[in-house]
Amino acid sequence: MPTKIEKDTATGRMTTGHEWDGIKELNTPLPKWWLYVFYACIAFSAVWVVLYPGIPLGTTYFKGVLGYSTRVEHAENLAAVEAGRADILAKIRTTDVADILKDPETATYAVAGGRVAFAENCAACHAAGGAGQAGYPALGDDDWLWGGDIHAIRQTLLHGIRSATDADTRTSQMPAFGEILDRNQIQTVATYVLSLSGAADPAPAVKTEGAQIFADNCASCHGETGHGGRDFGAPNLADQVWLYGGSLEQITAQVAQPRHGVMPNWGGRLDDATINMLAVYVHSLGGGE
Ligand code: HEC
Ligand code: HEC
Repeated sequence: MPTKIEKDTATGRMTTGHEWDGIKELNTPLPKWWLYVFYACIAFSAVWVVLYPGIPLGTTYFKGVLGYSTRVEHAENLAAVEAGRADILAKIRTTDVADILKDPETATYAVAGGRVAFAENCAACHAAGGAGQAGYPALGDDDWLWGGDIHAIRQTLLHGIRSATDADTRTSQMPAFGEILDRNQIQTVATYVLSLSGAADPAPAVKTEGAQIFADNCASCHGETGHGGRDFGAPNLADQVWLYGGSLEQITAQVAQPRHGVMPNWGGRLDDATINMLAVYVHSLGGGE
């Protein structure tokens, strides 16, 4: 029930003139600063709604005087990123891989792109990060079959190894010695091979005979000391790194019936920029020469 506006004796404040059961309401206005901020917000929103989209009109909407749209802005950002990407990809495609390595910015981009392409195309055989597995060489060590300088790596990628679909593929055939040597000779030369890395210590007679068989049949590809021959992709037999396993059984099996591992050619399947990025990536794994 309205009563008269009066001064409250306890607080010295004015009342609003409202009273309920003897309780009177004090008039406590909002602080001035708060009110001005509030009015400013109202003014701001009025301007905003004119400039920017905000009012629905049936199935469409009022676009605002500025015609702003997050979609347009997003598309513009995307176009800028794509243009930057196209530039660097064109550079990677047309630059010699050795020169890419010398340009840190491009090389970093190439390693990142190569990592993605590797996971998609290569990890199935060479395992994640090029760690390798039985029959598929590790690519992060400095034990190379065909060569670890950047151009050799690129060549391997482009044309593959023993690929049936590329005339320029890397190729060599270790003969099936099961048809050339008898069982004892194979056993002897395999034992000799193991002795090269210190994994076996055969009797001197066996060693001499094995060395002779090796010199006659194997050294032409694997080298006189068994350290491998990159012209033939022949593995180093004097280290502890084995493509097909380092037990006596595994070695006799390879000598009797070689695997002739196949690596697909990627030229024609992957574009040149991707091949270059992969070469740089593989080179960066740790064994690059
Ligand atoms: C189908 C399985 C397979 C796939 C997929 C594959 N590789 Fe290979 N790769 C091999 C085999 C097997 C060898 C070894 C062949 C040999 O005996 O010389 C090899 C050898 C290589 C070598 C030579 C290593 C050396 O020591 O000289 C490189 C480099 C290489 N691969 C890179 C790649 C890259 C990069 C990709 C992906 C684009 C890839 N490989 C995909 C099977 C594969
Ligand atoms: C024409 C060249 C050539 C000749 C000759 C040759 N090899 Fe090989 N050898 C290779 C190649 C290439 C590979 C690996 C490729 C493959 O089979 O996938 C290989 C692989 C091997 C491996 C497997 C190595 C590993 O890391 O697992 C052994 C062991 C081996 N050779 C032993 C011999 C012995 C012993 C002889 C002689 C009796 C011999 N090779 C003769 C080319 C040759």
